[in-house]
Amino acid sequence: MFFLQNTKRFIRYITCFPRQCRCKSDAAFESKKHRIKHGPSLKDFIIQSTGASDVPNHPPHIPYLPENYGDTSKRKVYFDVYGCQMNLSDTEIVWSILQKEGFEKTEKEEEADIFLVMTCAIREGAENKIWNRLDHLRGYKRRRSVSRNRHKPIKIGILGCMAERLKEKLIEKEKAVDVVAGPDSYRDLPRLLALTESGQTAVNVLLSLDETYADVVPVRLNQNSVSAFISIMRGCDNMCTYCIVPFTRGRERSRAAASIVDEVRHLADSGVKEVTLLGQNVNSYRDVTEQSGRSDTQLATGFKTVYKSKKGGLRFADLLDKVSSVDPEMRIRFTAAHPKDFPDEVLQVISERPNICKMLHLPAQAGSSSVLERMRRGYSREAYLRLVAHVRAVIPGVGLSTDMICGFCGETDEEFEETMTLMDIVDYNVAFLFPYSMREKTTAYRRYKDDVPDEVKKERHARMIEIYRRKCQRLHEAEIGNVHLVLVEGIVPKTGQILGRNEHYIKVVFDDVEIPSGEGNRGVKPGDYVGVRILSAKSSVLTGVALYHSSIGEFYKDYGWADRGLLREQNA
Ligand code: 5AD
Ligand code: SF4
Repeated sequence: MFFLQNTKRFIRYITCFPRQCRCKSDAAFESKKHRIKHGPSLKDFIIQSTGASDVPNHPPHIPYLPENYGDTSKRKVYFDVYGCQMNLSDTEIVWSILQKEGFEKTEKEEEADIFLVMTCAIREGAENKIWNRLDHLRGYKRRRSVSRNRHKPIKIGILGCMAERLKEKLIEKEKAVDVVAGPDSYRDLPRLLALTESGQTAVNVLLSLDETYADVVPVRLNQNSVSAFISIMRGCDNMCTYCIVPFTRGRERSRAAASIVDEVRHLADSGVKEVTLLGQNVNSYRDVTEQSGRSDTQLATGFKTVYKSKKGGLRFADLLDKVSSVDPEMRIRFTAAHPKDFPDEVLQVISERPNICKMLHLPAQAGSSSVLERMRRGYSREAYLRLVAHVRAVIPGVGLSTDMICGFCGETDEEFEETMTLMDIVDYNVAFLFPYSMREKTTAYRRYKDDVPDEVKKERHARMIEIYRRKCQRLHEAEIGNVHLVLVEGIVPKTGQILGRNEHYIKVVFDDVEIPSGEGNRGVKPGDYVGVRILSAKSSVLTGVALYHSSIGEFYKDYGWADRGLLREQNA
């Protein structure tokens, strides 16, 4: 069994192994026979896959570097990041790896030697944006290659989900691309980029069962930001029928808790005031190298998973406990939490810790049980609503956000109306709303028809946006007169006002004035916690007046954590 599984991985491995021999024709190079003759041996692979040697488990420490390994020191890299927060976090891992190898970073296109585009493949629209960017980069590369004062032509690398989805087809389709690297091959980037120095293209789209980049300390792209993202797991095993993520990011795996806690401590020491823990489904986090001694309790009925539930190890509730204990003045957020396995222990730790934001991303995706069944979400409308009621009972004042898809395969008018009524009942504070986009490889692609016409998808999408904005506006108006604890992020460029976020991650703006602190009055700067009285509300932003400097401990001290909402004083 071991041999069979690993032979499969071996064959995939060598098919993505870059060219390093002297075969003359491309056809000869492309043949499988050639690759088997000139690629790494099975012994090399087994050493790598079992870690049964001193050779670390990942490239670029593989022992067969090409002779023409080019010098990339001081090459300037320009990053383009598309897609989700996980992509931002991955870019910080990539930058950490490249910085160690002597690369530099630039924010100016004209200074760049290498453009690295971190891509997203979740919807066709996301990919189209990236194709447009590649059109621009192709033209830029051509213009730069004829310019006299440059010695080296620029290189273009495509990273992330689109790289994984399209693999070498990306280079066939877009000739300007030099490097294609999937989400699990970032350690290999220095080598892949070095290969391009001698004019080769390089592809590594091998997915891993164990890569978590746990030992790579990400280097933040925006060093001034008061908030940071931390990936606590990679991949997804859920296989929702519409979703490409399990195919582009591979199998689910959790990063060791100790390395996460270390990173949080390091961020706290460098002045970061808010971290968001990232995973496709944080509730299935499990560090099997540690023991918690406790097990999860879940709502008994109406939820099921497609994979065997995990036993033993340290769970998400334990991780939250550890992370939130690092610095009581650091706000902790996390996303996303799949509704199908939401343990009570997680709710409990959120309700007890003042620095864990009372805001949950609980993506419903649809409001109709039959659509949810076709999506293979593992819960019905009724079970989801029961969970919402339960969450609100355990954490009063909790904010909720969601992702919703309209126009999924076979969605009837009646089924869509159920999405509208679910949004009406739940009253989300934040919602990300998408028209369905069919993706190749997914179960929906194989099993269902993308039969809702585009105009209908557009119209349903517009209706979702309308109800969401209308309800949000009402929710926000109800906050007028209340005082929110706002973490200051920076300045609104147009108005010069101060911009921050409340506990529900809603933007709050207010005028820059001196306010009381422990030691007299002083102005406001990024990273400060400020008590702000809300004066007016729009659907996506609140406006208020700053009252005083505060802290998490100070602001909530008069309130029992279990029954507090957002506010400290009402109409005082
Ligand atoms: N079409 C539209 N939206 C999608 N999402 C995932 N796959 C698709 C798709 N094929 C949405 C889901 C998910 C969010 C990240 O993107 O709502 O939660
Ligand atoms: Fe995609 Fe479902 Fe996994 Fe989320 S949980 S990444 S929607 S497969």
